[in-house]
Amino acid sequence: MDGGLALAAVLLLAACEGRQSALDPGAANARDILVTTWVLFVGGTVIFVGVMALAVWAVVASPERFPGARSWVIGGGIVFPVVTLTVLQVHEFGLARRLVTLAADPALTVEVTGHMWWWDVRYREPGGGPLRSANEIVIPAGRPVEFRVDSADVIHSFWMPSLAGKIDMIPGRVNRLSIVAERPGVYRGQCAEYCGAQHALMAFDVIVMEPERFDAWLADQRRPAPDPAEPELARGRDAFFAFGCQSCHAVRGTPAVSRIGPDLTHVGGRLSIGAGSFATNVGSLAGWIASAQHLKPENRMPSFDVMDGETLRAMAAWLESLK
Ligand code: CUA
Repeated sequence: MDGGLALAAVLLLAACEGRQSALDPGAANARDILVTTWVLFVGGTVIFVGVMALAVWAVVASPERFPGARSWVIGGGIVFPVVTLTVLQVHEFGLARRLVTLAADPALTVEVTGHMWWWDVRYREPGGGPLRSANEIVIPAGRPVEFRVDSADVIHSFWMPSLAGKIDMIPGRVNRLSIVAERPGVYRGQCAEYCGAQHALMAFDVIVMEPERFDAWLADQRRPAPDPAEPELARGRDAFFAFGCQSCHAVRGTPAVSRIGPDLTHVGGRLSIGAGSFATNVGSLAGWIASAQHLKPENRMPSFDVMDGETLRAMAAWLESLK
């Protein structure tokens, strides 16, 4: 095997596991889809090989050694496809019904609105007010969760390959999906409908927590941003307002309430910034503030490249402290 083939084989196998693999399901929806995928792939392969073998045989065999052509046509051309496709069709009806069935009594509803190119996330518990976040979704394991998705601009598609099939996010329409995540872990979701220049950088993390941990997490998320504990953080917060960041962002507990961009109340506690683009740390936050247009061209955040280094570092440190 040459180097290229070996690399392709390694990449293919590596893709089978991991946080964004439809081949490593963590919920019943994704497992149903995977089973169907394997049935179609293996069945299709067997049929293809059989048809090719028969074709070769038909070409090379003399007519005397190829008896019963009529029964081959009836059996292989009519009976076999009708039986196979009917069985598959019945299976698909059941699958489709299971995939769109909503939990009667979801423990949590997560509303997600797609934007070019980020995700606005609202959590709603039965009887509880909404809690806003962005670009990361945290859900409890073992409890039914309903997603309600729509879009603020163009059509996006909400896809968590390890947990469920994709559903479209359409302006003016709410599409719904129910899942029960089976095991805690970090998964990755990705926009699955081409939506413009930065479609590829429209991802999100999905964190599945043990239910008790999730309850504590959700309670903690309701806490507004604290007052800065150190002078540098206070300087960073002041710079946030001096440069007008509140024109687009909200930080609960401060005068920033705009909904144009992602809610930043607990941005330092999220795994990534820029919709799954960069790991969250002071360096990536500073880089994002200074060069958002260079890192993700055409997104709606301008590059604040006029800030001096100390101010930039302070603002990034303040945002990173919001956990
Ligand atoms: Cu949003 Cu592609």
